[in-house]
Amino acid sequence: MTDREATAKAYAEVVNGRRSIRGYKRDPVPKVLIREILALAMRSPSSLNTQPWNFYVVTGEPLERIRAENTRRNLERIPSTREFRGMENYEGVHRERQVGIAKQLFGAMGIARDDKPKRTDWVLRGFRQFDAPACIVVTYDRVLVGSDIAPFDCGAVATAIVNAAWSRGLGCVINSQGIMHSAVVRAEAGIADDQTIMICIAIGWPEDSFPANRVVSTRKTLDEAATFVGFDD
Ligand SMILES: Cc1cc2nc3c(=O)[nH]c(=O)nc-3n(C[C@H](O)[C@H](O)[C@H](O)COP(=O)(O)O)c2cc1C
Repeated sequence: MTDREATAKAYAEVVNGRRSIRGYKRDPVPKVLIREILALAMRSPSSLNTQPWNFYVVTGEPLERIRAENTRRNLERIPSTREFRGMENYEGVHRERQVGIAKQLFGAMGIARDDKPKRTDWVLRGFRQFDAPACIVVTYDRVLVGSDIAPFDCGAVATAIVNAAWSRGLGCVINSQGIMHSAVVRAEAGIADDQTIMICIAIGWPEDSFPANRVVSTRKTLDEAATFVGFDD
């Protein structure tokens, strides 16, 4: 195998092998390893090389307090304080895909459609950052709020983080559940006033016996996604 083939193979193994991890071992993730992952991810491209992202890596007591307060607020149905606009309700094909992954996850976990307590447990698990030993909160410079490109750049760095983590045997799930109550995260993680909270990423060692970790999500076909223009064939 040539070096180039070996590189292509290793890259494909990471990208095709990665999946969202929603069940973790309790073992901590060494800070040095998270630093290594973030340093790699920061090689991501960004618009005009503006690198608008920043990271707050939270573990231990502050993370426990976030989990507890997220849970309380969710149970008491306190409205979200997320700092970006999301979609209220997806429709059409997007709704179908949303339902599709939920069915896969609930199927793996043995959660029946009408089993409200188990469904609530699952939702709360998300609000607890899936009990991961650490969580990376991705923020961006508040002066850029209003441009769509800074959140795009955060997406690029988030993808790079989960892939870099996977290449080192770590699992992640990018999630907006964890920052649904951004006011809590902001206070507990000491997020600076000049930062806007974009997303968070639970990170830890995958618990292989956790059924949802084996779920491989589907993708639309390449031909649905890609239009080739100006090619001869
Ligand atoms: C911006 C973003 C937000 C997400 N929020 C959540 C979330 O709140 N809870 C969750 O369980 N997964 C969340 N996910 C994970 C997606 O469900 C997952 O990436 C998708 O179903 C594809 O599965 P895969 O990551 O295993 O390939 C999020 C992913 C992204 C990129």
